[in-house]
Amino acid sequence: MACTRPPSAPRNVIFNINETALLLEWSPPSDTGGRKDLTYSVICKKCGSDASQCEICGGGIRFVPRHTGLINSSVTVLDFVSHVNYTFEIEAMNGVSELSFSPKQFTAITVTTDQDAPSLIGMVRKDWASQNSIALSWQEPDFPNGAILDYEIKYYEKVYPRIAPAFWHYLRVEEHEQLSYSSTRSKAPSVIVTGLKPATKYIFHIRVRTATGYSGYSQKFEFETGDETSDIAAEQGQILVIATAAVGGFTLLVILTLFFLITGRCQWYIKAKMKSEEKRRAHLQNGHLRFPGTKTYIDPDTYEDPSLAVHEFAKEIDPSRIRIERVIGAGEFGEVCSGRLKTPGKREIPVAIKTLKGGYVDRQRRDFLREASIMGQFDHPNIIRLEGVVTKSRPVMIVVEYMENGSLDSFLRKHDGHFTVIQLVGMLRGIASGMKYLSDMGYVHRDLAARNILVNSNLMCKVSDFGLSRVLEDDPEAAYTTSGGKIPIRWTAPEAIAYRKFSSASDTWSYGIVMWEVMSYGERPYWEMSNQDVILSIEEGYRLPAPMGCPASLHQLMLHCWQKERNHRPKFTDIVSFLDKLIRNPSSLHTLVEDILVMPDSPGEVPEYPFFVSVSDWLDSIKMGQYKTNFMAAGYTTMDLVLRMSIDDIRRIGVVLIGHQRRIVSSLQTLRLHMMHIQEKGFHV
Ligand code: ADE
Repeated sequence: MACTRPPSAPRNVIFNINETALLLEWSPPSDTGGRKDLTYSVICKKCGSDASQCEICGGGIRFVPRHTGLINSSVTVLDFVSHVNYTFEIEAMNGVSELSFSPKQFTAITVTTDQDAPSLIGMVRKDWASQNSIALSWQEPDFPNGAILDYEIKYYEKVYPRIAPAFWHYLRVEEHEQLSYSSTRSKAPSVIVTGLKPATKYIFHIRVRTATGYSGYSQKFEFETGDETSDIAAEQGQILVIATAAVGGFTLLVILTLFFLITGRCQWYIKAKMKSEEKRRAHLQNGHLRFPGTKTYIDPDTYEDPSLAVHEFAKEIDPSRIRIERVIGAGEFGEVCSGRLKTPGKREIPVAIKTLKGGYVDRQRRDFLREASIMGQFDHPNIIRLEGVVTKSRPVMIVVEYMENGSLDSFLRKHDGHFTVIQLVGMLRGIASGMKYLSDMGYVHRDLAARNILVNSNLMCKVSDFGLSRVLEDDPEAAYTTSGGKIPIRWTAPEAIAYRKFSSASDTWSYGIVMWEVMSYGERPYWEMSNQDVILSIEEGYRLPAPMGCPASLHQLMLHCWQKERNHRPKFTDIVSFLDKLIRNPSSLHTLVEDILVMPDSPGEVPEYPFFVSVSDWLDSIKMGQYKTNFMAAGYTTMDLVLRMSIDDIRRIGVVLIGHQRRIVSSLQTLRLHMMHIQEKGFHV
């Protein structure tokens, strides 16, 4: 006879559930089997209304400290889903349990999790997709039942098994899917999932976590990453939309014409229509079809006499109402002054006054006033407001609202490191909102850059410097291209440089550069690289690295703005809503790029960087040669060692200036990214 035996089942199982945890407790078995090595194990099953239809709970649920080999007669269950029947089978075991052939002795308890957990996430929307990423957003649950802690996004590639396609229809969708999945978390109801394969379908489902626990997973959503040809598809799509709109518009026109003929209102209609400027507006303008209710930008150059345009869009101001106080700058056409404008019945307001210096020719006057004709068509809080013009006396002037903090680039340089990330994102949000307005109007800026953004005393940013080709003449950053155009290379999308394809999508590229300028407090994009090197690097696929202290989500957005395929870039409306979400959930800005980009610790894994043989060459290349002795004295003699440096190491060896720290960190990040790229591709350096 065996001297010991398995224990009997545990007794008196009770549970205690709160919002986040379920505590199971029991009494030891009445018969320990004559042994002292008693342990417990717990099996979780999810049961429907019919108790015979139970399934094992799976990976979502957690046991603390664990679910087998428990010494104490209690266990805590976490991460359960609400409104589910869980059955827990608790078995007592000892050293001979495994040897016994008799049925297991366990005690079961069923717990229904009816506490106030959040409701399910509803619709999940794809905001945009690139070849390797998909941006998603969704509404917060209707009944969060507490503060939302975060969202878990589970995703996996939708793959088809390696069987003949003829047999696919025998398989359920779930069976097509890979068992392995990835998951990520987001504090905000949006996420950019990166590292995906191009032109590939992925399945996503999302659950929310609050203090009361997890919701169930949302239904599954299928989204696809972009491919190289989707540009063409998108363009064809646009053509289809335009064609459909044109056919629809034509039909509407026929119906209206018949209506007017029948009702005898034709004469009135034709007369009204003949008003020349009305006629001009009724047509396709600036490559955009006008739809009723959409205000469209009118190019002043389409007026035979551009001076008519200025009077259509700008008020003539009596110069006696303007008081010029001081000169604040110099423009291409003359001085820029600050001053005051008195409007009858209103308070005096501060204004900036652009003047046209004497001795101008007709063409200069026309080019000067062109900006007013453009600005006068806009009415948005993030676009510089035109107060009016003086054209009937000398000097000719353009009067605009005064922006106390001047241009954004110099303002940021002056206040390096002084703002919170939220303040910087607030500025970017304002600029994106102004640009959304301009693109909705069909206006393409072509020279969006921090130097062309003005900042007021409330840190509000407004887009300024309008005038298409003229601004480029004015812009010291603009350089002549081989095709003869003058273009601010560092801010301009490759297709605009290569074949002058300017569009709202090329403005989006420039916006990404403005984001980079803002997050680096006015650093010059691509530093001292020559324009030619910038063009070549972009063509080779290089992109600006994240500035120091830049949240990963913002750098991701920049990279999306810098996609080669212009139709893959986000629209300004997407950018505004993405930034809004970040602002509403500031914790989404806590992950910095430098937190993600850590180098592996084991020395063998780091290949020597291929292009910089020595630390000294590298420092020279980023114009930081003055720190060579600091690096050498501190023992950072090879690029292998330098690549492992943290920001603290860089400070410690004596790089004190924040701008210099930033330049070194940014360059190291580029090198690290480059190496990861190489390693990913399996190249051996
Ligand atoms: N410089 C150019 N335009 C300006 C404005 N509107 N306010 C302040 N400074 C400026």
